[in-house]
Amino acid sequence: MPTPTETFADLARARRTIYALGKSSPVPDSKIKELVNEAILHVPSSFNTQSTRLVLLLHDEHEKLWDLVIDTFGELVKTGAVPEEMWRERTLPKLTGMKNAVGTILFYEDPAHIKPFSEKFAIYKDHFTPWAEHSNAMHQYFLWTTLTSLGFGANLQHYNPLIDAPVSEKWNIPREWRLIAQLVFGSPEGGPNEKAQKPVEERVRVFGDKN
Ligand SMILES: Cc1cc2nc3c(=O)[nH]c(=O)nc-3n(C[C@H](O)[C@H](O)[C@H](O)COP(=O)(O)O)c2cc1C
Repeated sequence: MPTPTETFADLARARRTIYALGKSSPVPDSKIKELVNEAILHVPSSFNTQSTRLVLLLHDEHEKLWDLVIDTFGELVKTGAVPEEMWRERTLPKLTGMKNAVGTILFYEDPAHIKPFSEKFAIYKDHFTPWAEHSNAMHQYFLWTTLTSLGFGANLQHYNPLIDAPVSEKWNIPREWRLIAQLVFGSPEGGPNEKAQKPVEERVRVFGDKN
């Protein structure tokens, strides 16, 4: 029987970036909603600020998000800000691939829940925003890893701030919330890319170990 720590390490090992995603879901939507709630309840935040906000878009709503990203980029192609060839050969196929998945989780920070702490604890005032982002990233990692454990593949994207305004408008999300990341998930239709690992000894130092 693996210990809980071994199980947790196995889950961490299994989490990878998967770009080839499909639309079959290994679980009912209620299970995904449950995980999102678990993340919001159990991921820690500095001073317990709880400033992270999550928006779960499933199926048709997920598709609408990626249509919106495609439309936003399409406008940039028209103005010449994005080169036509790059759009046709790289960006559009990539975005169409995102659309062909089950769902996307949008990770936000609500500054209204950070500011009072910055005002109250003057010596830490410049730390609350980065700490909020650390906590936001923990939510991302929790959901990336647990969705993988359910049989999904997932990848993390950053189309913010380009899409912030149209997304706020479409799903009636407070304009002050800051979009941090998008986690796309679906049935894994391909494996992860090969990943080079820098030597562990260069990255970890241990002092005082006895056995
Ligand atoms: C903070 C962070 C930001 C990332 N941003 C992106 C991104 O914008 N687009 C993308 O395709 N992958 C993104 N990734 C995925 C990384 O490229 C990937 O995690 C890394 O290469 C290791 O591969 P693995 O996820 O398979 O372990 C991001 C990962 C992290 C942790």
